[in-house]
Amino acid sequence: MKLRIVGAAGKLGRYMVQHALDRGHEVVGVCRPKSVGKLDAFKGRITVLPGATDDRQVILQAVAGCDGVLTVLVPFGVHGLATGTAQAVLDFARPGARLVFSCGWHITRDGKDVYPRSLLWQAKVFRWLAPRLRFADLGDQEEACRRIFASPTRWTVVRGSDLEEGPSEGLPVWSEHVGDPILASNRTRRIDFALFMVAALENDALVHQAPAIVSCRAPSALAHAAAGSAPPLHHQG
Ligand SMILES: NC(=O)c1ccc[n+]([C@@H]2O[C@H](COP(=O)([O-])OP(=O)(O)OC[C@H]3O[C@@H](n4cnc5c(N)ncnc54)[C@H](OP(=O)(O)O)[C@@H]3O)[C@@H](O)[C@H]2O)c1
Repeated sequence: MKLRIVGAAGKLGRYMVQHALDRGHEVVGVCRPKSVGKLDAFKGRITVLPGATDDRQVILQAVAGCDGVLTVLVPFGVHGLATGTAQAVLDFARPGARLVFSCGWHITRDGKDVYPRSLLWQAKVFRWLAPRLRFADLGDQEEACRRIFASPTRWTVVRGSDLEEGPSEGLPVWSEHVGDPILASNRTRRIDFALFMVAALENDALVHQAPAIVSCRAPSALAHAAAGSAPPLHHQG
């Protein structure tokens, strides 16, 4: 697949580059000019396009003729970075291309997610403090996702739980709503979040879905599997 990775130099981005190469995809990565060096380990194996991820000219050039785009959506700054990035990808990827976006559990598609109290507090504090420090704006990531959800393109929005580093535990499992028992452990290895993003490119069942993911080795996922009640939406790795 001719694949583009927008936000390739971040932690998630670099894991996605590795998984994509492992699967034989041809990769072009977009990252900020100052971060190009973070992709040195892939020199000669990928093409790097330096530029802001919300620069429409950069994204236009990057996604021309590609089959799939993996986009890291981050709410950093207070200038609509996530919204600008998502909109450019939605506007310029060819019709029919697979578009997979990353975000966190805090994004809700239909308002039916049920959040742990601790997560609600965390989001409330972050939502209040981050824009005041001009550090980040969760509303920007929410607006980006609203636009994706309303788009007729072939999108998937992958909602990550709390992330941790460490070796792969396998493809995460997922469910439609935060609050579903399978997700209760709220932890995923970042390397496996990336694996899910790359695998989603070739999983048409995930088109127009916003899967909330958790490690397949997390206690809640293991308990769900042991109960032997895996409904069709819950995919084991
Ligand atoms: N961190 C978590 O616990 C967590 C939990 C759930 C979901 N997620 C989701 O996972 C994805 C990746 O998050 P991550 O925390 O693992 O981070 P990450 O992969 O390191 O990605 C951060 C990205 O943001 C860019 N960035 C950082 N500061 C920036 C700035 N001031 N202006 C513009 N771009 C900036 C980085 O670009 P450079 O490489 O150029 O610096 C990089 O592409 C996101 O979609 C996030 O919502 C994260």
